[in-house]
Amino acid sequence: MEKQKPIILTGDRPTGSLHLGHYVGSLKNRVEMQNDYKQFVLIADMQALTDNAENPGKVCDNVFEVTMDYLAVGIDPRKTNIVLQSKLHDIAELFMIYSNLVSVARVERNPTVKQEIKQKGLERELPLGFFSYPVSQAADITAFKASFVPVGQDQLPMIEISNEIVRRFNRVYNCDVLKECQAVVPKVGRLPGVDGKAKMSKSLGNAIYLKSTEKEIEQAVKMMFTDPTHLRVEDPGNIEGNVVFAYLDAFDPDVKAIEELKAQYQRGGLGDGVVKKRLREVLQELIAPIRAERSRLEKDRGEVARVIRAGTEAAQETVAETLQEVKAAMGIDYKAIW
Ligand code: TRP
Repeated sequence: MEKQKPIILTGDRPTGSLHLGHYVGSLKNRVEMQNDYKQFVLIADMQALTDNAENPGKVCDNVFEVTMDYLAVGIDPRKTNIVLQSKLHDIAELFMIYSNLVSVARVERNPTVKQEIKQKGLERELPLGFFSYPVSQAADITAFKASFVPVGQDQLPMIEISNEIVRRFNRVYNCDVLKECQAVVPKVGRLPGVDGKAKMSKSLGNAIYLKSTEKEIEQAVKMMFTDPTHLRVEDPGNIEGNVVFAYLDAFDPDVKAIEELKAQYQRGGLGDGVVKKRLREVLQELIAPIRAERSRLEKDRGEVARVIRAGTEAAQETVAETLQEVKAAMGIDYKAIW
């Protein structure tokens, strides 16, 4: 039965606990899709090392953090396998094989990698591992023969490279061992940071975390960027670039009420305080059960460890099978010797 379901592979680098940007960007999709698909969520600890080589301890610690976030938002280990990347050695081998099928120039054209290099100011100091992470990600995706990959918008160039590798592999070795996949991007665009910057991110320090306390949520909403020209309640206000409305769009289920609030805000006569109060309530309601489940899990690390172990073990066979097929297609399985 299980085998019939299309396969989803998705994942995160464990470099910090997850925030609302992750929630909107992929966690929500994963929770919704886990019923109809066979889902693997990869904790990409090896990929995390590509820009954290000096800090492996941080990566290890965050394997637990991220898993607790997954479980707390409703990723159900009975439906989804939570998988630790570094324990699947076959993926590393696939990466070595694929790295001969992609050019440096091709990876250099990847806009997300380009931007990350610039953001980190790496230039020629760029670690080789970091540069090649799109290829290692192709190994992740293809190892599972995933049909769908729920990711944020910024990951689309990775999917593109992955599918190119698949086509190249199948053509060069005249087979159809590898499967192309399709990205699943969220309907809501990316979530801005509380400061109004285009993206919510840990490194920009503008995130609301899934483990936030009530107080932290309150504080974040209080500081939140609205419309700097909206000085008095009776002034007309701007919706565009207004973070409070962006979050209401993303999290308030009552679409009609939000439309009315927006109209009133634009006409004038609606203060930021009222809109913020509504958002505060919406966020408290969203995060309260997540926080509660998370703090329960924090007291039971054994359970978290068991989930990771079971999920990883269940993935082992799938991945080994793919590597075996890949080697057979290439004729490097040395049947005459082993
Ligand atoms: N690159 C992804 C990120 O930074 C994480 C990731 C690693 C991933 N392997 C993957 C996502 C495979 C989807 C599929 O968020």
